[in-house]
Amino acid sequence: MAGMWFLGMDVGTGGTRAVLVDEAGRIVSSHSAEHAPFRTPHPGWAEQDPEDWWRASVAAIRGAIAAAPEPKEPIGGVGLTGQMHGAVLLDKDGKVLRPSLIWCDTRTQPECDWLHERIGYERLIELTCNPALPNFTLTKLLWVREHEPEIFARTAKVMCPKDYVRFRLTGTYAIDVQEASGTLLLDVTNRRWSAEVAEAAGIPMSWLPEVYESPEVCGAISADGAAATGLPVGAPVVAGAGDQGAGAVGMGILQPGSVSATIGTSGVVFAATASPIKDPKGRLHTFCHAVPGRWHVMGVTQSAGLSFRWLKETFFAGADYDSLTKAAAAVAPGSEGLEWAPYLLGERTPHLDPKVRAAFAGISTVHGGAHFVRAVLEGVAYSLQDTFTLFAELGIPVNGVRLGGGGARGPLWREIQAGVYGHAVEILTAEEGGAFGSALMAGVGAGAWKDLDAACAAGITVAQRIEPEAAAQAAYAEAYAKWRKLYPALATLY
Ligand code: XUL
Repeated sequence: MAGMWFLGMDVGTGGTRAVLVDEAGRIVSSHSAEHAPFRTPHPGWAEQDPEDWWRASVAAIRGAIAAAPEPKEPIGGVGLTGQMHGAVLLDKDGKVLRPSLIWCDTRTQPECDWLHERIGYERLIELTCNPALPNFTLTKLLWVREHEPEIFARTAKVMCPKDYVRFRLTGTYAIDVQEASGTLLLDVTNRRWSAEVAEAAGIPMSWLPEVYESPEVCGAISADGAAATGLPVGAPVVAGAGDQGAGAVGMGILQPGSVSATIGTSGVVFAATASPIKDPKGRLHTFCHAVPGRWHVMGVTQSAGLSFRWLKETFFAGADYDSLTKAAAAVAPGSEGLEWAPYLLGERTPHLDPKVRAAFAGISTVHGGAHFVRAVLEGVAYSLQDTFTLFAELGIPVNGVRLGGGGARGPLWREIQAGVYGHAVEILTAEEGGAFGSALMAGVGAGAWKDLDAACAAGITVAQRIEPEAAAQAAYAEAYAKWRKLYPALATLY
């Protein structure tokens, strides 16, 4: 049988990346194209133009196809992922009505308060598994209704970022259950739109795209989509998933009990679950997984890799990450009492507190630059450990932890994470992120693999497993107990 390739693409915040994957789950080629940076016309606002995502998507797809070796195999399916939660408003002719309010736009706290008052905090969690957060799509629609009623009146469809790119590729209005979970309009337990929430919020159901499971085919490349990108007309397009869902697929986090800890700009601890496990206090996100019939929970540390980058740029300009972590490796676990609370941008999990700010605590004359570096790496790991603590409180099993992002790259941050979490951590041979996960979904949709478990078995291998070292684990446990007292103290200040 002739081979086939699958295209996965990730419409991120900074840029769009396309990858081609073969039927053995190997990356054939990839290409990225940057986006214009998001605009912040007022503090807390973040807007991007959907047209710019489309421009970058076309460049990324064409680039990945051009970079692939000869003989090129036919592209048998396309999968999409991307930054979650953004609101794209379209009129009845499919024209974009205003720039998209994206995931990190935090102007909508008043709309969150209104939803909690109207529906009730507990009732909203019963219906959607989550409370209202400014990140979530519905709150952005309510802001447009309040502040730009003429745009709201002309709205006919609402989409998330990657679903808008799909619309341009196929002409279909579709969304997957994982992405839809982050809109606050999905009945996450039953994997369908919540008519009750839509009605209470005043959003017409006709605005909402059709919901699919992630590996399901929901459209095909149109003549226009093919002309723009070079993809074959009629190639099936699967629903895909938001970046966290597709990233988890790309790391093989599918079975209940498997967990990933990914340190990028933000840090995410993600666990696959067999049922929707809700936190009655709303501190974790509970979403449908990209795997049909499964769910996931996740906790988000706002400033994870960002803490390290900020430290380096602010105090160690000119130094590189490797030399900083090498020096920090000589400091004992616990950083001789120096602590970092990583709240540069407030915090999501577990505090849901956008106002708190970061701090170093416990500084004495024994501390030098290397202590500060180590304290930052440890403080970020403690903040991710807060999500593991919540998992334990809610009975969410953790059978193994895979590391992703920058936190998986150097030996020191790996060891710190193993010691702080108190679990063996695994490093993958190649971590290709969400675009790879969405290509695997495309392969499942096209029938190359029976399901996502089979796709991941083909494409993902563990390169290294690091056990926590007993003495370090005990030192971190003691330091974490002290570190937990920092947030309540800081919260009284801000
Ligand atoms: C998930 C989240 C981010 C965005 C941007 O809840 O806010 O992962 O999807 O990457």
